[in-house]
Amino acid sequence: MSDALNYLIKVRPEAMGAYFKFLKKAGDHLDTRTRDLISVITKVAVQTEPGFRQYLTRALRNGASPQEIIDALLMAFPVLGLAKIVWATDILLQMDIPEFRPENLDAPPQWHDIAAVSAVPDGEISFFEAAGRHLFVYRQGEDLKVYDSRCPHQVTDIPHLALEGHKLTCPKHHWAFDVQTGQCVAIGDRPLRQFDHRVEGGRLLAHW
Ligand code: FES
Repeated sequence: MSDALNYLIKVRPEAMGAYFKFLKKAGDHLDTRTRDLISVITKVAVQTEPGFRQYLTRALRNGASPQEIIDALLMAFPVLGLAKIVWATDILLQMDIPEFRPENLDAPPQWHDIAAVSAVPDGEISFFEAAGRHLFVYRQGEDLKVYDSRCPHQVTDIPHLALEGHKLTCPKHHWAFDVQTGQCVAIGDRPLRQFDHRVEGGRLLAHW
């Protein structure tokens, strides 16, 4: 939320409450994906970068595919115009979301080899790279957790230097996560994304 909106909520709580209720109710008869795609397009139309990043993250989290998001941008050409579509695409490229890379756009989910389980220290969090994606892996005995390094707020690639003990803090807006559970423990309200995993022949595999 911007400082301006926070200010208006403080000084005009009833009016702003009604405004937010209106926004919520206005999409009542749309499915989640359609609502999310429309929200992404509105952020491109008014060119608010934080809003675009946030709604894009939400659309992906709720199941919209990168291809659907690109289609929505292109279909909105008559109202957006090429300049705004290029503006949004430039931000997408800066975000470097693995799913948007050309080689991944139509790739079906598959199992990826991460590391030998023996190379994952017990009781610690480790940082790996596999198939162009960064991962945090937490091991407690036989129990393993594989987390996407992308922040659930605006998809920032959280670097391994952001680790302090069991706490991982995103450098962008300081959401903090407990790597033992993946839960957000400060500022934000969404957990790290976890990937399904399995161990095969002593190797850790993850699915995305
Ligand atoms: S992108 Fe905002 S806290 Fe990570």
